[in-house]
Amino acid sequence: MPLVAPSILAADFSRLGEEVRRITEAGADYVHIDVMDGVFVPNITMGPSMVRALRDKSSIPFIAHLMITHPERHVKAFADSGSDIIEVHLEADQDLHATLKGIRALGKKAGLAVNPPTPIEKAFPYLSEIDLLLVMSVNPGFGGQSFMPEVLPKIASAKHEMDRLGVLIPVEIDGGITVQTGELAARAGADILAAGTSVFKAPDVRGAIAALRACGGSKD
Ligand code: DX5
Ligand code: ZN
Repeated sequence: MPLVAPSILAADFSRLGEEVRRITEAGADYVHIDVMDGVFVPNITMGPSMVRALRDKSSIPFIAHLMITHPERHVKAFADSGSDIIEVHLEADQDLHATLKGIRALGKKAGLAVNPPTPIEKAFPYLSEIDLLLVMSVNPGFGGQSFMPEVLPKIASAKHEMDRLGVLIPVEIDGGITVQTGELAARAGADILAAGTSVFKAPDVRGAIAALRACGGSKD
């Protein structure tokens, strides 16, 4: 059964601390923090000072999903602010091997994110250097978009390559995840479901998280 990483992009920004506490108490496994720079994606969201401000609101791991053009310039700030997993994009402008190595050298887990149009094979040379693979199921930039089912075969391809290499790396999927699309993703092999709208806008946040964690559990 998958783990659940609510994305605070869909939270009430005027009371983010309480929102992080709310999902933690409701059983979230991670806090997914969407960082956008207005260049790599059109939108601008939050930075390391926000991560630092939220850190003492929760004891579960923080995932910083960096949708920024030059992640190598900022990984130290995100590490120092209390991020546990730092995800950088394959499409960003950087020496990716060096960035991933740098994240691990800071004592953090390195994640690699792949946009929908990017072939998953491009991630293969990095599989021995990462702790998490993020398959994007929307084009990043905004919450509340529709899930793109065509990305699902990427999960099996990545897992096949991991088997071949003898590495085991969890796969997170992010974008448009609901109970219905989470079911498809979990059956396709996703280990972590990032979900913004379907968690934060649910009338019952605990129930929404539990329903996502139950995805992929039925055999029919
Ligand atoms: C997209 C972000 C996602 C997104 C998820 O750019 O990386 O994490 O906020 O939000 P929903 O679940 O609303 O698609
Ligand atoms: Zn994200």
